[in-house]
Amino acid sequence: MGTYAVTGAASGMGRAAAERLRGDGHTVVGVDLRDVEVIADLSTPTGRAAAAAEVLERVGGRLDGAVCAAGLGGVPGRDRVVQQVNFFGVVDPLEAWRPALAAAGNSKVVVFGSNSTTLTPMVPESAVRALLARNPDKALRVVGRFRGRSAPFAYASSKMAVTRWARRSAVSPQWAGAGIRVNVLAPGIIATPLLEEQIARGEKDAVEGLAVPIGGRGRPEDVGDWVAFMLSPAADFLCGSVIFLDGGSDAYFRTDDWPASTGPAGVIRYLRRAKEWRARH
Ligand code: NAI
Repeated sequence: MGTYAVTGAASGMGRAAAERLRGDGHTVVGVDLRDVEVIADLSTPTGRAAAAAEVLERVGGRLDGAVCAAGLGGVPGRDRVVQQVNFFGVVDPLEAWRPALAAAGNSKVVVFGSNSTTLTPMVPESAVRALLARNPDKALRVVGRFRGRSAPFAYASSKMAVTRWARRSAVSPQWAGAGIRVNVLAPGIIATPLLEEQIARGEKDAVEGLAVPIGGRGRPEDVGDWVAFMLSPAADFLCGSVIFLDGGSDAYFRTDDWPASTGPAGVIRYLRRAKEWRARH
């Protein structure tokens, strides 16, 4: 049986994942604002550092896996908090836990992304790059240009950045090379308190009007099962993948966007990456 850190374990999908893992006999250390083992605010650097340290202390410096589900939706007026929790609230604790994940030898990380990464049009690339460059002030300034309409861009940019961070890290010597598998679960519309809040804020039409080819909404307990699967030995060969669990919304809107052949600009990068790999192995 393993030991897992689960952020956002007090509600929705993080809670469902924690319950499923506990039900399977694993030890779970939950991190959230309330009702869990480690009470911490992931929207501030000090809160993140304290959360990371307390988890490490509780698990004795060894983690079989981590689930990063703490996050917010696009909440008007809360762009800073959204970017802080959704990006830095994932990346900072994971970087602090990396040695403990490496110590387990064969560990797995599930990062919660979102299908908004591909469904939200016109997300400013410079906001995504600013987050990846650890420049939150710039990321906030960029989405602030949308003034009263910035919330979906703050949200989607935070999820794009965390997804790219996960894919970059996943294939690196520090993570894959240390036996740590990092993957992203990108949910669509899942019936959680976060969704209920969105509907209560007046976004019912946007939620109900979204194309979901299979129909309906996802269930948090099913997402918990997916998390457990992505942490299980069956997922040993999964690395840097983004799993869309969205009833077909991404496939509907972006049907032919991927897979796509590498064009002339990409070939140079492809050859450079191939050379780097050969030099290392
Ligand atoms: P939820 O609101 O039910 O649970 C999120 C948890 O994160 C809550 O327990 C909350 O207290 C915690 N959290 C928020 N801010 C925090 C902070 N500053 N410090 C510590 N904990 C904090 O939400 P849900 O729906 O379960 O979402 C889980 C993840 O999935 C989030 O990252 C969300 O962005 C993402 N997501 C949700 C979708 C949905 O339709 N529900 C769709 C796509 C992505």
